[in-house]
Amino acid sequence: MAKERLDKILAAQTAFSRKEVKELVRRGIVQVDGRKVLSPEEKVDAACQKIVLDGKPLGYKKFVYLMLNKPQGVVSATRDRETKTVLDLVPEQYSHRELFPAGRLDKDTVGFLLLTDDGNFAHDILSPRHHIPKTYLATVDGPITQELMEAFHQGLPIGGEDRCSPAEITVLNDGEHPTAEVVIYEGMYHQIKRMFQRFGLTVLTLKRIKMGGLKLDPALSLGECRELTPEELLQLKNGSKGTV
Ligand code: URA
Repeated sequence: MAKERLDKILAAQTAFSRKEVKELVRRGIVQVDGRKVLSPEEKVDAACQKIVLDGKPLGYKKFVYLMLNKPQGVVSATRDRETKTVLDLVPEQYSHRELFPAGRLDKDTVGFLLLTDDGNFAHDILSPRHHIPKTYLATVDGPITQELMEAFHQGLPIGGEDRCSPAEITVLNDGEHPTAEVVIYEGMYHQIKRMFQRFGLTVLTLKRIKMGGLKLDPALSLGECRELTPEELLQLKNGSKGTV
């Protein structure tokens, strides 16, 4: 990993602001490899140098994993010339990380999106071979028929060359605009919208509420994100209800 300013590293890995960190360094309570460092600008490699703050070693995280509650109107990309991206929602403290969205939600889809800088992990959870379930709430503009549910359960063609493997669907409310919970195991382009479209239905709202065995944290408002704990990472990967 490249060297970075000591104050930047400390601000990213502690609850202190950049300003507070500078003050702490100048007070002489930060050591790097056993040497007191008084200059917040000093460049340090946090991956291989030992940083100690007030006697306590700094926990270096090789990768970060953020759960974002994606709002409507932002794109699941790292950059876009016209539209705000999910990375624009990530707090400044992660700006030195090369985060990217693991998978994508459409611009108008809300809910659980994982942001990480761990390419292997992202590959694993997205690979159709690993069958990580993704659970959505979909509200549609007409009745959900028995025929539709059977087709979802069996797998169906959704246009072009694409054919979805078996999915699960549970109707949660059956009004004029029914809502269903849908679980899919792949991530094809506009997959859920195209599955309903096959039966002449338009998806009015779509929210991802769970990935693997990990639910979207209800405490996260739209546009907010937070780091996952190691246990949550396992839940995400395992897909079963929190069992490890
Ligand atoms: N299926 C869709 O149609 N859109 C999404 O954003 C996710 C799944």
